[in-house]
Amino acid sequence: MTKKIIIGNWKMNPAGLAKAKEIFQKQVASAKKLKKADVVLCVPYVYTSELGKLSKAVHLTLGAQNVFYEEAGSFTGEVSTKMLKDLGLTHVILGHSERRKLGETNEDVRKKVNAVVQKGLTAVVCVGEENRDTGGKFYRYLQNEIQESLGDLDAKYLKKVIIAYEPIWAIGKTADDAMDGKQMHEMSIFIKKVLADVFGRNAEKSVRIIYGGSVDSTNIESLIREGHIDGVLPGRASLDPKEFGKMLDIADKL
Ligand code: PGA
Repeated sequence: MTKKIIIGNWKMNPAGLAKAKEIFQKQVASAKKLKKADVVLCVPYVYTSELGKLSKAVHLTLGAQNVFYEEAGSFTGEVSTKMLKDLGLTHVILGHSERRKLGETNEDVRKKVNAVVQKGLTAVVCVGEENRDTGGKFYRYLQNEIQESLGDLDAKYLKKVIIAYEPIWAIGKTADDAMDGKQMHEMSIFIKKVLADVFGRNAEKSVRIIYGGSVDSTNIESLIREGHIDGVLPGRASLDPKEFGKMLDIADKL
């Protein structure tokens, strides 16, 4: 088994830098105890520089929640992969459902994935259906989303790709509404099959698969263990240092 990864998604939180530092310092303290699990905190762009100065924890790095695919130029409001890399960031969440809701397409995600991996950063590509239908149409939806979001990516970059399966219906709910480990296992088998169809049979060994959607300290173990996945992507729980600390301890032992 490979080591586990916990990727916290702070979204547009917390409201100010002082609070961000306070939360971050507690999380650094938790991460310092880790022996093998890795932690990435994907924080708002504006906090990355200041928070980056506060951590030398071996198993903790910073990530972003989006990026633009062009290198530089007249793209008001955008941020490039080089800018993130220069700040020491290691991961970028791409295609989160909350961004897709604002209009981001599979084609946008595909371009961003390419830009991110070519810069040596890891792309955390979010996919997931809005609803489930009894006829299983959501499988087709998911297959299409994965295929189009990765598109023509050169297979040599697959080690720099993490697929975050985040069913939209499970985001922002309670642990009882989340997927369980057994269901996640089915989904991880399906995702590996889609990857194998596009990139060949070795793809499943390169691409890591994680789960997001109401993960906390009560369900992280079963999701990772029974789901046979490489980690999780918590939102709210990543802003709660106590809860997050518990999750890191559990992941470190898996
Ligand atoms: P949640 O968010 O853990 O608060 O459900 C997960 C996400 O949206 O990435």
